Amino acid sequence: MITFTDVHKSFGPKKVLQGVNLEIPKGQSMVIIGGSGTGKSVALKSVLGLISPDSGTITVDGKDATKGDRDAFLARFGMLFQGGALFDSLPVWQNVAFRLLRGSLKRPRDEARDIAIEKLRRVGLTPDVADLFPSELSGGMQKRVGLARAIAAEPEIIFFDEPTTGLDPIMSGVINDLIREIVVEMGATAMTITHDMSSVRAIADKVAMLHDGIIQWTGPVGEMDNSGDPYLTQFISGSAEGPIEAVR
Ligand SMILES: Nc1ncnc2c1ncn2[C@@H]1O[C@H](COP(=O)(O)OP(=O)(O)OP(=O)(O)O)[C@@H](O)[C@H]1O
Ligand SMILES: [Mg+2]
Repeated sequence: MITFTDVHKSFGPKKVLQGVNLEIPKGQSMVIIGGSGTGKSVALKSVLGLISPDSGTITVDGKDATKGDRDAFLARFGMLFQGGALFDSLPVWQNVAFRLLRGSLKRPRDEARDIAIEKLRRVGLTPDVADLFPSELSGGMQKRVGLARAIAAEPEIIFFDEPTTGLDPIMSGVINDLIREIVVEMGATAMTITHDMSSVRAIADKVAMLHDGIIQWTGPVGEMDNSGDPYLTQFISGSAEGPIEAVR
């Protein structure tokens, strides 16, 4: 569904992606792991065209992601942003229904609100949350609202950027299970970025490790613990010793 071929991206002198090759099969859940600042969010934003690679190609369903009708292209995606990125000035239901209230996916207002409430319920939030503002919610509730927004238009492809960061272990487990269920139930292709190894085990069909601008290892989640890859092994164990230099 998504193919990266030799993707490079630098910001000034800073080389971030240095030849990323990766395939995400249709209907599968790919989790990308890697240290802070290695370019995981940049890779994800590049698929959406929010960042343009310097060279290389990214195709979605066989088509070059940078060409063609942007609106139709973006309508296929749902995204949970790192940090939520809810609109402070809009009530929860309008956040969830954001894309159903405008553009090519526009629905009548009543219908959009009903869908928002149904999606809130899907992520374990009651209808009374619909009329609150994001600032009136806890961090965990905001993540759930972000998740409800990501699935509101029933996208074919869903991106989750750090879905559990800042949540307690139990809430993280709840969000992980929800993501897994939603991906299976919708048959969606998913790309998740995380540092949280419990998320990886709960969500992934396949795992890819990004380090030094390239995918160091990729394979099924079941092979992750016996990969023999020194980068991956160090990352999983959280050890300061290994090929990944810990910044002290
Ligand atoms: N729009 C931008 N302009 C300039 N530099 C950027 C931009 N976006 C990202 N970078 C740089 O690219 C590098 C990778 O950033 P990115 O956000 O992809 O990291 P990450 O792997 O998602 O890290 P984290 O796990 O902390 O979220 C960083 O050094 C960052 O400063
Ligand atoms: Mg990031």
